[in-house]
Amino acid sequence: MALLTPTLSVVILCVLFLFFVALPRRKRASMLPPGPPRTPILGNMRQMPTAEAPLVFHKWAETYGDVMYLEVPGQSMIILDSLRAAEDLLDHRSLIYSDRPRFPLLEIFGWKAALTMLPYGKKFAKHRQMHQAYLNRHKCADYLSLQIQEAQTLANNLLSSKPSGYESCLSRFSTGIIARIVAGHTIRSNEDAYLSLSSSVSQAVLSAGVPGTTAIDFFPILQHFPRWFPGTHYMSVAEKWRPVVRESYDYPVQSVKRERVGVDLRACMYHASTYDSQESGQAKPSFILTQLQKMESWDSVMKEDEDDLKGAATSSSLSIFVLAMVLHPNVQVKAQEELDRVIGKGRLPEFGDREKLPYVECVFQEIFRWVPGVPLGIPHRCMKDNIYRGMLIPAGSIVFPNIKGMSLDANIYSNPTTFCPERYLPKPAGFAEPHFPAKFGFGRRICTGQYLGDNSVWIAIATILASCTITNALNEQGNKIVPEGTINDTFQAIHTRMSALSNHAPLRPNS
Ligand code: HEM
Repeated sequence: MALLTPTLSVVILCVLFLFFVALPRRKRASMLPPGPPRTPILGNMRQMPTAEAPLVFHKWAETYGDVMYLEVPGQSMIILDSLRAAEDLLDHRSLIYSDRPRFPLLEIFGWKAALTMLPYGKKFAKHRQMHQAYLNRHKCADYLSLQIQEAQTLANNLLSSKPSGYESCLSRFSTGIIARIVAGHTIRSNEDAYLSLSSSVSQAVLSAGVPGTTAIDFFPILQHFPRWFPGTHYMSVAEKWRPVVRESYDYPVQSVKRERVGVDLRACMYHASTYDSQESGQAKPSFILTQLQKMESWDSVMKEDEDDLKGAATSSSLSIFVLAMVLHPNVQVKAQEELDRVIGKGRLPEFGDREKLPYVECVFQEIFRWVPGVPLGIPHRCMKDNIYRGMLIPAGSIVFPNIKGMSLDANIYSNPTTFCPERYLPKPAGFAEPHFPAKFGFGRRICTGQYLGDNSVWIAIATILASCTITNALNEQGNKIVPEGTINDTFQAIHTRMSALSNHAPLRPNS
């Protein structure tokens, strides 16, 4: 029998390749979600937005739908632009959507394997449990009185500060709460070491761009290229901030260690009432102290967890609140009238008042929807091929919940770009629209600080409204200066705007 001729062999190989490689690949490609056209090697690399990515993606979703597919070399990406798609996948299929991609740039910055960055697995479950033991809804009741104290300090600080200092007052508030819970440390002055570290870390966060979307994230090899090479810009930024980030890990632990010396640790086991105790010379009950008690070694994962507990989104939400009040004085008046009616002028708000203040609640809710603090969420990673609405979501895809895009969904929110707290009031006073549920993220990666952050932002808003009025500054002609405020603001833009705005938003005490 004649052996296979070379020609026949080539034909057989071609047929095998067609059946086992090319056709299945083509079939898979045809099942992917729609997205902007890709070029053969670079995919969508050249179209990737360099600024305002959430708004660009939201615009693309008008053409391609709420589940979009993008590709850069070696990486598939899914953008979820509707609450329904995000809930269907990240909540209901959380078993395969709770992984995180690697964030090479953040690693270079010095943020190590903290909970936020941990892959889904046993270590993640352990860390998450540790956070939840401290931050669950029930445990957060222990922090209410310290949050009230810090909110009152915030109002006092705002009233005695120049407008240019407002933003640092707001970050002192959020850092103050976290420092007390995490390290048992009370911030008493603007010169506090925690405060300056925390503000440097916030600047580092701002300069790191949207997690997972820089050229270094897509091509980690770029970190080894010379700094003049296109795409390496973030390397110099990361190198500049790295020492600050490392210090932010070490300082709180070191300070608790110092205070711990000579203290009978068992006597300090944390308890609700002791969070308010302010005696000096003792390591106060705290997250760090409790973990230290459980550990044999100082050099453990706990430091990374401490870094997770910074909750920078709290102060950014409050910056957005100040901006909203300057732009919408009528809202401020309405909320203050409600506060006067319900609690009067003799005292400041407490958490027990919350249910009786529906309009203040609407203002609070609208802050999170109007300018979400984490506009593109923190990306999840899909661990297994799966089909959604007939589309293939490939294993390994980085999945971005476009929280900003969801906040602009005109099917849920009328005039979505407008700041309108009334939208949540029942009809006929309002439009009975739902609160914005995406603000804290999704599924098994939902923000572990959601109850703490929610309480902090609410008490700060209620206390500021009750004690101060945020007004416009006047120009030389005596006319109000109205700062520009557009819905295009991202967190970074808001931060910059706040610095500019603070010159235009004096506060005056309420009578
Ligand atoms: C009001 C303020 C806050 C907002 C709007 C906010 C929002 C978010 C969002 C959108 C995520 C991503 C969730 C996801 O991957 O789907 C997240 C994650 C996270 N947040 Fe917050 N957050 C706030 C305050 C806080 C606070 C106060 C803490 C700590 C005390 C905190 C700790 C965390 C941690 C550790 C994660 C990562 C969870 C994980 O990967 O498993 N957040 N947050």
